Amino acid sequence: MTVTSINKTSQEDSERPKHIVVVMDGNGRWAKKRLMPRTAGHHAGVKATRQIVEECIKEKIQALTLFAFSSENWKRPEQEVSSLMELFITTLQSEVKSLHKQNVRVRFIGECSAFSEKLQIKINEAKSLTENNTGLQLNIAVNYGGRWDIAEACKSIVSKIQLGELQIDDINAELINEYVCLKQLAEPDLFIRTGGEKRISNFLIWQLAYTELYFTDVLWPDFKSEEFLEALNWYAGRQRRFGQTGEQVDTTQTQQV
Ligand code: FPP
Repeated sequence: MTVTSINKTSQEDSERPKHIVVVMDGNGRWAKKRLMPRTAGHHAGVKATRQIVEECIKEKIQALTLFAFSSENWKRPEQEVSSLMELFITTLQSEVKSLHKQNVRVRFIGECSAFSEKLQIKINEAKSLTENNTGLQLNIAVNYGGRWDIAEACKSIVSKIQLGELQIDDINAELINEYVCLKQLAEPDLFIRTGGEKRISNFLIWQLAYTELYFTDVLWPDFKSEEFLEALNWYAGRQRRFGQTGEQVDTTQTQQV
């Protein structure tokens, strides 16, 4: 089936994800299949990223969070890590103005202090240039890990307890939500992982508790508008229950009509 646009007549706003998160996997295999170096796959991955950002703008998605570099990716061969760092610098250099023109607000999550000064400058420039934009919020996760995120939240909470600003009994899921990354956004509705693997790989492990998980064999450089719209259509068919029964959800929806 060819999907060229989401079915607007039947798709209500409630069926459209507000916040999409993506593990962009498969760049290396895409390059290997073409007898090209892995870095060529990452360059092709940037093109796919551009297309998906544009689709999110068109489809009026509120937030898109991309896993660009995990805290575990430092274990890759040195040459691949350094070419990824170079690619981040050149990509920010070439894309940020156009993102700004499209009213996109760019943010970063992860431990950016580990990066070179040059990359940190580009990250800060992108953040400050776009901070007042009101369109798509694009979050780029770099040197990010879900366990790191939770550990950082614990440290902040414990230091507030030490200062007497919080009590141990104040700790609950809502409080922790206020200390993890992306706290200011709707929780992710849709998680997409390309490249065939069916795992979360330490991405947003706290935030994904009720997210719908979509896995596809398509490699990231081949994940274009059509594949993205297919994922949106799949999401529109999901019934989100948040612990309730299907019947309870049906009844609430009927009452709301
Ligand atoms: C995983 O594929 C991909 C990465 C670790 C890098 C992702 C980065 C980009 C697509 C560039 C985007 C840039 C910005 C600034 C958002 P893999 O290398 O693990 O692929 P494999 O599983 O086939 O080896």
